[in-house]
Amino acid sequence: MLSAVLGLFSQDLAVDLGTSNTRIYQRGVGVVCREPTLVAVHTDRRGRRKVLAVGEEARAMEGRTPRDIEAVRPVRDGQIHDYEVAEALLLHLVRRIHGRNAWVSPKMVIAIPHNATDMERRALRESCETAGARDVHLVPRPLAAALGADLPVERPSGHMVVDLGGGATEVSVLSMAGVVASRVVPGGSSGMDRSLIEFLRGERQLLVGTPTAESLKEAVATALPPKRPKVHRVSGRCLRRGVPRSAEVSGDEAYRAIRGHVEAVGNAIRSVLDQSPPELATDIVDHGVVLTGGGSQLVGLPAALREATGLAVVRSERPASAVVLGAGRILEEMDLLRAVAC
Ligand SMILES: Nc1ncnc2c1ncn2[C@@H]1O[C@H](COP(=O)(O)OP(=O)(O)OP(=O)(O)O)[C@@H](O)[C@H]1O
Ligand SMILES: [Mg+2]
Repeated sequence: MLSAVLGLFSQDLAVDLGTSNTRIYQRGVGVVCREPTLVAVHTDRRGRRKVLAVGEEARAMEGRTPRDIEAVRPVRDGQIHDYEVAEALLLHLVRRIHGRNAWVSPKMVIAIPHNATDMERRALRESCETAGARDVHLVPRPLAAALGADLPVERPSGHMVVDLGGGATEVSVLSMAGVVASRVVPGGSSGMDRSLIEFLRGERQLLVGTPTAESLKEAVATALPPKRPKVHRVSGRCLRRGVPRSAEVSGDEAYRAIRGHVEAVGNAIRSVLDQSPPELATDIVDHGVVLTGGGSQLVGLPAALREATGLAVVRSERPASAVVLGAGRILEEMDLLRAVAC
């Protein structure tokens, strides 16, 4: 009786712990959380760390903290590098979702990089358990992305998914619910932000932070030369005089600053296709490539990759949520879970 009642208000969660954002899907409900993967941590004189804020609240503090408080990003380049902080973030978000019912520990499906080591798997499993999960299932991130993009990955036919996240771009070929080939291009969409920061420093003698570069990218950057370039004004610190100053950046300049990243993704697609067994390569030529991840929202990206690879390239319907939606599907469908858990 008790378990039937609890089943009605399911505590089961699927998690995508990304470099930029953490998303959580609740069974029977949908995506219930999207927060920056960021934690404000206070370190006392004895080196003990205490969490002050997570997610959006921590973002408001980024770049504005005193010396003993640090805004920590526990995931870098798509890989967890600070498990203690990642665990604190998960614990906080899970408690927020479950509210007063926090005593009921959930089943948890969590997406992990395809190339995660045994040690990383163990550490992540432990972090989920500490966050309150009773039953932890690790699933390869490319598979979750493909399922979230509605690709029929269980079938014996090849599909290619390119997940362009904040920290890394993962190009993967999938068949029969498994990852057949995969290649990671480091940097992801935040690599474009860094190139825009470099451009402003070199060409405008202007120092700007990551949030400014990110808004510039989202406002005017394109993956192909823009036909009618937009202009965006950014503010920063003048490197010559040290005073606040603003400058205009055109879409054409932004395109030139980031185009190397787009080329790198095109090259990775070609090389993964080259390494794929011939039957699967033929399937991919037939089915095309699906883009997921927040970074795939860059204007003109499908067209640019089509031009670079000769393949049909489309963006999935909800690209930024594809991984968590796919992990959610795995949570909802036991058969899928049995097929893909690793
Ligand atoms: N309209 C847009 N144009 C270009 N980039 C965008 C746009 N919207 C969001 N992004 C970028 O998407 C990235 C975040 O994507 P996402 O949330 O998928 O990353 P993540 O899953 O946290 O990272 P990863 O998968 O690499 O660990 C950010 O770098 C953000 O700047
Ligand atoms: Mg991601």
